[in-house]
Amino acid sequence: MAIRLGDEAPDFTAETTEGTINFYDYLGDGWGILFSHPKDFTPVCTTELGAFSARRADFDKRNTKLIAVSVDDVDSHLRWKSDISETQGAELNFPIIGDADRKVADLYDMIHPNANDTLTVRSVFIVDPNKKVKLTLTYPASTGRNVDEIVRVLDSLQLSAKFPVSTPVNWKDGEDVIIAPAVSDDDAKEKFPKGFRKVKDYLRYTPQPNK
Ligand code: BEZ
Repeated sequence: MAIRLGDEAPDFTAETTEGTINFYDYLGDGWGILFSHPKDFTPVCTTELGAFSARRADFDKRNTKLIAVSVDDVDSHLRWKSDISETQGAELNFPIIGDADRKVADLYDMIHPNANDTLTVRSVFIVDPNKKVKLTLTYPASTGRNVDEIVRVLDSLQLSAKFPVSTPVNWKDGEDVIIAPAVSDDDAKEKFPKGFRKVKDYLRYTPQPNK
């Protein structure tokens, strides 16, 4: 069954390029991103794994662990790993799950039940410290993901986990945010001491509260 926002992220134990990993233990009490790759030694995936590795510091800063999955075994991943460093200018610095038996792909519903091959879609799951799924993304195999967008959503999720705010269209870290409609103007004055700008009763902007 498809995993929806707010569901508990299914736990699993799997062999990876960094040894046996239990997903929940790996995440600890931080955030996590599980993302799937259709197959090893495929061009778009190679660029994605290099790009995520190059941005590892941005994920560390956000207390977020990365873990990838591809429906091939760990030996194959380890051979692919050297191609990634050779071609992408970044050493793979997070684990890839060996999933030749599709255990994790099936658990997270990454393969269409009517598919006639084992190619997963490009799925992304962001998991919060309570192990709840906060974001799901599904891309076709032909389109590589955008690391900036994933970092941007992570910033938004982490902000709205701490403050009663949401983030407007095209928002980026550091820009004004929207006060949740459930917060009264009086409460907003207290909660957002930098003040707020009221465009409509339901549309109030305030400077990003954690900056
Ligand atoms: C790729 O990563 O380039 C890819 C993987 C599976 C199908 C198509 C493209």
